[in-house]
Amino acid sequence: MDYDLSRLGEREFEHLSQALVLAALGPGVEVFGDGPDGGREATFEGGVNLPHRDGRGRWNGFGVVQAKYLRRPGDTASGERWFAAQVKAELEKWLEPDSVRVKKGRVPDYLLMTTNVVLSPVAGGGGVDTVDRLIESYAKRLGLRDWAVWHYDKLCRLLDVHDGVRRTNAGQIVLGDVLSQIHDLLPVDPRRRESAASAAKALLEGQSDRDAACPYKGLAAFTEADASVFFGREQLAARVVGRLSRSHAEGRPLVVMGASGAGKSSLLAAGMLPALRQGQLDVAGSEAWPRALFTPTGDPLGALAAAVAAATRRSADGLAGQLRADPDRLAAWLGEDARTGDLESPPAGADRCLLVVDQFEEVFTQCTDSAARQAFIDAICAAAACDDGSAPAAAVVIGIRADFVAHLAAFPQLRAAMEAHPVLVGPMSSDELRSAVEQPAAAAGLTLELGLVDRLIDDLGPRAGRSAGAEASYEVGQLPLLSHALLVTCQRSAGTHLTLAAYQATGGIRRAVASTADDIVARLDKDHYDTARNLLLDLVQIGEGTDDTRRRMPLARLLASAPDPQRTQRVLTELAAPDARLVTIHEDRVEITHEALLRAWPTLREWIDSDRAGQLLRQRLDDDAHAWTEGNRNPVHLYQGNRLTLAAAHGVPQSLSVLVRRGV
Ligand SMILES: Nc1ncnc2c1ncn2[C@@H]1O[C@H](COP(=O)(O)OP(=O)(O)OP(=O)(O)O)[C@@H](O)[C@H]1O
Ligand SMILES: [Mg+2]
Repeated sequence: MDYDLSRLGEREFEHLSQALVLAALGPGVEVFGDGPDGGREATFEGGVNLPHRDGRGRWNGFGVVQAKYLRRPGDTASGERWFAAQVKAELEKWLEPDSVRVKKGRVPDYLLMTTNVVLSPVAGGGGVDTVDRLIESYAKRLGLRDWAVWHYDKLCRLLDVHDGVRRTNAGQIVLGDVLSQIHDLLPVDPRRRESAASAAKALLEGQSDRDAACPYKGLAAFTEADASVFFGREQLAARVVGRLSRSHAEGRPLVVMGASGAGKSSLLAAGMLPALRQGQLDVAGSEAWPRALFTPTGDPLGALAAAVAAATRRSADGLAGQLRADPDRLAAWLGEDARTGDLESPPAGADRCLLVVDQFEEVFTQCTDSAARQAFIDAICAAAACDDGSAPAAAVVIGIRADFVAHLAAFPQLRAAMEAHPVLVGPMSSDELRSAVEQPAAAAGLTLELGLVDRLIDDLGPRAGRSAGAEASYEVGQLPLLSHALLVTCQRSAGTHLTLAAYQATGGIRRAVASTADDIVARLDKDHYDTARNLLLDLVQIGEGTDDTRRRMPLARLLASAPDPQRTQRVLTELAAPDARLVTIHEDRVEITHEALLRAWPTLREWIDSDRAGQLLRQRLDDDAHAWTEGNRNPVHLYQGNRLTLAAAHGVPQSLSVLVRRGV
């Protein structure tokens, strides 16, 4: 089990060390009180219960125990540096003939050091070996016969064994204990994991049947595959390509920005990519460049590496780590002999590529590692750059929500890119809107009742404008609502004729989303309703001083943590159904299809607002717990004191039962 040693405080840590030394080494140990003792927590004389590392008998002589407590252990590397400096300082003191400790006592034969810091066991460069080499370099001069370092992992193992010591340290709360208690409250059926796996399979298989005859996308963004039904953005797509051409020539990324729901993702995927494929970028061969369109996620370097590797049909092995160490690496990697370590031969022109980073705001909202964020930005800017006069390795496009654009200013290369040739995705003109409604219908062989388009445009906003050529200025965030109303109108119209009556039955642009969502949850029985509520709340990132946003969740994590995965699967199927598309299930993740749902569905708002603080705490606990299991169990993620009490008081997310099963 892992223990939260960081909440102990220095004094308690010393006591814990003394208790463990006593328990492990035996009665020959003499512990010191809290007074000045020359930095020693305990000494022993004679034989104790600790074997020499070379296997030749047990320690037998005069030994000193010293505890080193770091109040706020950060990452492993900084903890290791701190501990090595502490050890060095101690060893130096033993070498000073005039030091108090040498005058008061004698130089020990054995040295045992304890610390709450995590030392990496990696052979050679890890903290364990580094400290070992450090002590060894003093051993001869000091006459040390042997030494030991009990760092975080070792102390945890000793605590596991010596449960008497663990129990007497009543002030010590361990995450594992808390989770074990919660585990008792959440009966875990061993068959549930299997059930979660089969639920995920059923959901993913169900996805392939989703393709309805309707050309409208509802709340979902258009993808490149939807290009044949994507209309209304032809001019803007041409502008994007023109500006990309200039940005690329100048060695900068192109920034495409716009409000939430303005249509950026759709424009980039279904407007710009097909235009580039047709060779509209005035760079020879660009129509054949491999194209990587991705979102940064919480691990932007990993996402970048995976996307370029997939686009160039190569292995991503180690690329993310290389980029972190050397953000310039991408250009060289793309130019390397593609045959080395390749999965198969790369496509032609694979020494250059197109990088489209959509939802760039995730770099600021989801990536919490500032070094990774900087390396990612450096890597894409270096790929776009042509500093030495050579052609850039990549044409880079960034799609970002306008409310996050200010964050770019902190990065000089991105600030310059934003100032150079930005593209703003605004509202469509009334002609474009008309085209966006009429043309997909025509392409899919559908007809529209006379007056339906006018009605839609009227309902979109008072200033959307009906007359030909009018500058539309509807509120851009309404576009998802229009799109959803079109989808539902299409689903509800009998045959291939879309009628006004069917549109009216949706509740109109402003109510269609809420009415679809309310209808779905109203059909559910109590258990399924509660599941839907919890599920949707899990998919909302509660904002702290910012708007609430979508929270993308791995499908496996969502299902494995659900008390009844089959029920969760049924609810997900309803929410993601072709006539709803409130939730989207991608290959391995689930998300609310568009943030517009958060604004347009009062029931969800009520659910969120009824327990914002509790929900926020549960999410943080959930995220921290996962960071803990996936991030080498760094104690910084562990809960202590008030934070722990608060979190426990607000209940614990179901997904934590996963951790309990893993034995955290
Ligand atoms: N040309 C279009 N015609 C019809 N609907 C569109 C068009 N472009 C976008 N939409 C719809 O508008 C909504 C928002 O689109 P999209 O997701 O592309 O916007 P976004 O600006 O990327 O949003 P976000 O800020 O959340 O990333 C979706 O419902 C999409 O189907
Ligand atoms: Mg988008």
